[in-house]
Amino acid sequence: MLFAATTQRTIGFVILAIVFVGGILYIYFNIRGAKPEVGSEIELAPNRMPYLSDEELEGRHLDRTLAAGLVLLTVVSVSLPLYWLGEPGRHDGLVADTDRVFTDRGRELYTEGAKCVSCHGPDGTGGSVSKSLIGSDGNFIAQVSWKAPALNTVLSRFSEDEVLHVLNFGRNGVMPAWGGPGGGPLSEQELETAIFYLRSIQIDEATIRSEVSQGIRDGVAEKLIAESPADWAVAIRDAEAALAALDPENTDPDNVQAIADASGAVNAARSDAAASISAAVDQWLAAKDAVVATAEHMALENDATLAAQVSAAASETEKADAQAALSKAALELLSEPGKVPDQQIYLDYGKIIFTNQASGGTYSCARCHTSGWSYDATAPRTIAENGTDKPLLSEYKQGGGFFGPNLTNGTTLDQFETAAEHAAFVSEGQTIGKTYGKGGSGGNGQMPGFGPRTDDGVGVTYPGLLTPEQINAVVAFERNL
Ligand code: HEC
Ligand code: HEC
Repeated sequence: MLFAATTQRTIGFVILAIVFVGGILYIYFNIRGAKPEVGSEIELAPNRMPYLSDEELEGRHLDRTLAAGLVLLTVVSVSLPLYWLGEPGRHDGLVADTDRVFTDRGRELYTEGAKCVSCHGPDGTGGSVSKSLIGSDGNFIAQVSWKAPALNTVLSRFSEDEVLHVLNFGRNGVMPAWGGPGGGPLSEQELETAIFYLRSIQIDEATIRSEVSQGIRDGVAEKLIAESPADWAVAIRDAEAALAALDPENTDPDNVQAIADASGAVNAARSDAAASISAAVDQWLAAKDAVVATAEHMALENDATLAAQVSAAASETEKADAQAALSKAALELLSEPGKVPDQQIYLDYGKIIFTNQASGGTYSCARCHTSGWSYDATAPRTIAENGTDKPLLSEYKQGGGFFGPNLTNGTTLDQFETAAEHAAFVSEGQTIGKTYGKGGSGGNGQMPGFGPRTDDGVGVTYPGLLTPEQINAVVAFERNL
């Protein structure tokens, strides 16, 4: 862009110089070649060709010349403003054209050139990549499948500069470095086209809401299947235990058949229970809402000013402001251990959001803050592939730190004095070069923002990944780690 502007200017200056020098030369030669004084030609040129007479000149000929002049003047005076009026349209057309060309090139890069699609899935819907984990001593540890986040919401959580940072430098040795600064093969302009393509695949708010809610419902369902004393849950657990008791690596035909039968039984138990599961999930989420209502009730009892604000609120804005203040006060209570009856339900809800599996874990926090979560470290291995069937981890230490820092042992309580500040940070994320909290570094913007993000450069507001209500729950969970 800058280069184009300078080239244009240079050309402009050259033309100006040519016109200027040419003008001077013209005047110089004109004066030098000029005929002697006006009037003297009467004697000097007696053989001059006779020209039109005064009668003729002032008659039809003059009229025609004047009419032609008028027509030309009209053409110029009408077409100039018309051209000028059309200019913004032409400009927009050019921009739209450039957008289209860049987006097409970005799509080509995504699917062919750099094959982002092989890990991040078609249209950026998320995927995974097979990766050999190597220990610090250089020894092979395990072959794992590493979650590659969906990119169709990436501009909700990162600014374009922050995305460029990941593209340039890669991450965790699984996302390759693509840009020059990280030693990668792609040019700056190719990375720019990738960003144009990413802009074109971002999904809308309703889709995000439904993906996140479905992930939460699935998380609640798994929790209830593991813990509920209801008959349907017991039936599923029994079927799963029977399957787990069989040796998956024994290829004896009888065993293979037994495994097929047992896994069929698990599926049957789960589908038989589908309606019960869905009802139980609704009930559990309602119980979570009741805990929030209790906390709000307690907050009103604790704070007379807040209670007055809530009861005095009349207009829609006043009501919204009062509700926001109330949620904030309730969040402080829910974030402090053992403050609210049945608080654990709310904290479990926060944990389910923290570990949301939807879209390959894209909406989760665990993929960056929990070691091993991105590659399923608690899953059993096969002896054939890894020489052991022991999982890499017996259990996760949620929030124990991985790519993102450790959130346990009170470190986040030090960083953010109140749950409200903590929630504001999770909503906005970390911005390149900007410090946060008490001692948060001015890093590379790699902590995503989970609230909505406005990009003034592109003139777009991208929807948040989580609602304020969901962010609050995850914050309460973190403050109790
Ligand atoms: C070999 C597989 C692979 C390829 C190819 C690949 N990526 Fe990635 N990418 C990943 C993985 C895995 C992660 C997550 C890393 C982690 O867990 O820290 C990731 C992370 C990212 C992120 C960060 C998103 C977030 O929310 O954390 C962006 C942006 C990204 N990739 C864009 C791209 C683009 C654009 C291309 C193509 C130019 C590409 N990737 C090619 C595997 C890949
Ligand atoms: C793509 C990776 C990534 C994801 C996903 C992610 N974080 Fe982070 N987070 C980071 C990084 C990196 C930092 C450190 C930022 C820095 O120091 O510049 C961080 C910092 C934080 C901090 C500040 C910790 C401190 O003590 O300084 C909090 C709190 C936090 N993240 C919460 C969350 C929550 C809640 C979620 C999920 C809703 C989440 N993060 C998802 C990468 C991530």
